[in-house]
Amino acid sequence: MAQLWGGRFQKKTDDLVYEFNASITFDKTFFKEDLEGSRAHVKMLSKQGIITKDDEKAILEGLDSIEKDVESGKLNITTEYEDIHSFVEANLIDRVGEPGKKLHTGRSRNDQVALDMRLYTRSQVEYTKSQLVNLLNVILRIMKENTTTIMPGFTHLQKAQPITLAHHMGAYFEMFKRDVLRLNDIRERMNYCPLGSGALAGTTYPLDREFTAKELGFYGPCDNSMDGVSDRDYLIEYLSALSTIMMHLSRFSEEVIIWNSNEYRFVEIDDSYSTGSSIMPQKKNPDIAELVRGKTGRVYGALMSLLTTMKGIPLAYNKDMQEDKELAFDAMRTTNGCIQLFAGMLDTMSFNKDNMYNSANKGFTNATDAADYLVNHGVAFRDAHGIIGRIVLYCIDKGIAIDDMSLEELKNICPAFEEDIYDAISMETCVNKRLTHGACSKEVMEGVISSYSEWLSGQDA
Ligand code: ARG
Repeated sequence: MAQLWGGRFQKKTDDLVYEFNASITFDKTFFKEDLEGSRAHVKMLSKQGIITKDDEKAILEGLDSIEKDVESGKLNITTEYEDIHSFVEANLIDRVGEPGKKLHTGRSRNDQVALDMRLYTRSQVEYTKSQLVNLLNVILRIMKENTTTIMPGFTHLQKAQPITLAHHMGAYFEMFKRDVLRLNDIRERMNYCPLGSGALAGTTYPLDREFTAKELGFYGPCDNSMDGVSDRDYLIEYLSALSTIMMHLSRFSEEVIIWNSNEYRFVEIDDSYSTGSSIMPQKKNPDIAELVRGKTGRVYGALMSLLTTMKGIPLAYNKDMQEDKELAFDAMRTTNGCIQLFAGMLDTMSFNKDNMYNSANKGFTNATDAADYLVNHGVAFRDAHGIIGRIVLYCIDKGIAIDDMSLEELKNICPAFEEDIYDAISMETCVNKRLTHGACSKEVMEGVISSYSEWLSGQDA
C-alpha cells in the first residue's frame, strides 16, 4: 500500500477497504494524461517562482523516465498504489528525491483527476469523430455509385414507394453527420481547464491558470473552482452522443440483417465479416451487425449509470465521482470499435441490385404515382386513391403488377387512363420525378452528394 495521505492516521487501512477505495486498475487508462498535466503544472510552478528551475528540471526528467520505463515494460503500474496519481508521485519521489515532493504544490487530486478525465475524454471525442468521418466516407462512396440503383423504400416494413440506394444511404449520412456536429459542439464546450481549482476553493499560491490551460490546449481555465472539480457534464454529453451514435448504428445493423436475410437478399455481407454455424453448414450469419445492435444497450447503460451517480452529489468533489470511469471507458471503447467494424462491414458488402429493383417493381410501390397520374388527368385525389386501391386488389387477385394490366383493363376501371400511364408509373419515373428538396431523384441526389463531399472534406479528422 503506497498512500499519499498517511499522516493523520494511527491505524493501517483495512485490506478490503483499500481495495474497495482504489482506482488504479482503471485510472491507469489516463497515465499519459496524468503525466501531461503534471508537466504543465510543474512548468507553471517554476515560471511563477513557486519552485526553482532546478526542481522543475529534476521533476520533468523524473516524469520522462517514469513514462519511458512504463512504456518499455521496465516499470509496472501495480495495485500497490491507490491510484495513478499516487503511482506517479511515489515513483517520482523514489527517483528524484526532494524535488519530487514538490510536484503536488498547489494541486489536489480533485483538480488533477478532473483534468486527467477531461484530457482523456477530449482525445476520445476526437477519435470518435475520426471514426465517424471514415464511416461517412464509405457511405458517400456507396451513394455516388448508386444514384440510379432502385429499391423499395419502406414504412411499417411494408413496401411504400421506390427510392434509390443513394437516397437510403443518404439518410444515414445525415444521422452520422449530426453525430459529428454533436461531437464538435461537445469538444468546444468542454475545452476549459479545471487544473488550479485545487481541492475546491482555489489556492493561495500565485498559480497562472491561463498558462497551464494554454499549455494543455484548452481555451482557458474554467471560471469556478468548485464547478471545476465536480463538473462531469461534458462526459454525460459525450456518453449521450455515443448512445445516439449506437442507436444509429443499431438501426442500420437491423436493416443490414433484414437485407441480408434469405428472404430479401438485397445485400451480401462479405465472408470476412460473416460467421458460420457449428451445426448448420449452410449458414452465413450477420453476427457483426447483431453484435453492434446488441452492444447498444451497454452504451445506454453507461449514460444512465453516470446520470444516476451524479444526481445526488452535493458540491464539490465526492468519491462517488470515481464511478465515472469504468463504464465510460467501456462505452468509449465499445462505440469506437463498433463504428470501425460497421464501416468495414459496409465497405465490403455487395448489393444485389436486381433483387432490389425487382422487389420495388413487384410491390405496388408505384401505387401513389398511379393515383397522382389520375389526379393529373382530372380525377380528385380521394377518388383516385379509391380507384387505385381497387386496381391493387384486382392485381393481387391475379398475381400481377399494375404495369402488367392492359390499357383496356385499366380503362374498364377508370376511363381516364391513357397509353402514357405505363411510362408514368415506371420505377425510373417514380424516382426521378421526385424533384423536391431532399427527395430521391438522381438530379436532387447529385446536388446533395456534392454538398456532402464538400462538407466532409472540411472535417479535419
Ligand atoms: N480516484 C479518484 C477519482 O477517481 C481521484 C480523486 C481522489 N480524491 C480524493 N479526494 N479522494 O475520483
